[in-house]
Amino acid sequence: MDVKATLDALKREAKEAITAIEKMHELNDVKAKYLGKKGPFADIMKLMRDVPNDEKPLFGKTVNEAKQVILQWLDEARERLVQAQIQAQLDKETIDVTLPGKKFELGTTHLLTQMVEDVEDLLIGMGYQVMEGPEVEQEEYNFEKLNLPQDHPARDMQDSFYISDSTLLRTHTSPVQVRTMLQYGGTKPVKIICPGKVYRRDDDDATHSHQFMQIEGLVVDEHTSMADLKGTLLEIANTLFGEGRDIRLRPSYFPFTEPSVEVDVSCHNCNGKGCHICKGTGWIEILGAGMVHNNVLEASGYDSTKYRGFAFGIGVERLAMLKYGINDIRMFYTNDIRFNRQFKK
Ligand code: PHE
Repeated sequence: MDVKATLDALKREAKEAITAIEKMHELNDVKAKYLGKKGPFADIMKLMRDVPNDEKPLFGKTVNEAKQVILQWLDEARERLVQAQIQAQLDKETIDVTLPGKKFELGTTHLLTQMVEDVEDLLIGMGYQVMEGPEVEQEEYNFEKLNLPQDHPARDMQDSFYISDSTLLRTHTSPVQVRTMLQYGGTKPVKIICPGKVYRRDDDDATHSHQFMQIEGLVVDEHTSMADLKGTLLEIANTLFGEGRDIRLRPSYFPFTEPSVEVDVSCHNCNGKGCHICKGTGWIEILGAGMVHNNVLEASGYDSTKYRGFAFGIGVERLAMLKYGINDIRMFYTNDIRFNRQFKK
């Protein structure tokens, strides 16, 4: 038997099999088939017995070389498969850097929040503290202690949502005045603002909403005066409507303040000349205010012969509408992204 011819034939066959390999597991099969314990090389080695002694080394060497060659091809095939795998992965993960990127939409604070934050920034800078109070309120705080006894006609001014006989959704942020003064215990000066939601039994339309926002302000001290109130309101007007605004106070009525005033700001749109926003008057009404009524001070634990205070209440939606010419209050609540986006800071 011509061993060399047998080995050559075997190599050729193995080469063909190795070249055809496409998967890793096939690689192992082919290796086992040609180099395994029960493979053709085992048979060939059995022939060793019949080989003359002096030819044995050469025989062994020839067989071994054939084995090595096949092993070498198997290694090459393995490398080829690994590379192909990497290439396939790379092809799959190809990134087209010319594609437009994903757009991340940045949100913005709601216009009402911006208005509140502007006022907060100003007043915190002036030493005010921001307080909060419950939206579900007791009549006692919403009315009684604010000098609005049971049969007071002014209770009709504020159609309320009642939850039980004595519990309602607060109709204004003024109950926080009472709560704060009671908490302060009648001895400490008070300087707070309270932004928050309030509720009234209105039918919703372009200018009415059953829920809206107010910012309450309260200062109580031994020397607080109407002049302090006016100075503070002027600062607020300039913060909200821009520098150069003027304000004027008109006598008004609130049960919880005496004297009470309605505060107008000179129109930011026409600078006081008269336009559609100020309805030709040059002035825009922006808030209600006054000196805290003695009854309110007393009901809240402050000695009215020693302490006096001022308070104001700002309607946030109304201000935003006037400032930006928004003609429907419902725009604030329906969250139309096109509306909100216009007030990106
Ligand atoms: N609470 C009043 C309202 O809702 C506003 C106000 C607050 C007036 C404080 C005077 C002082 O209309």
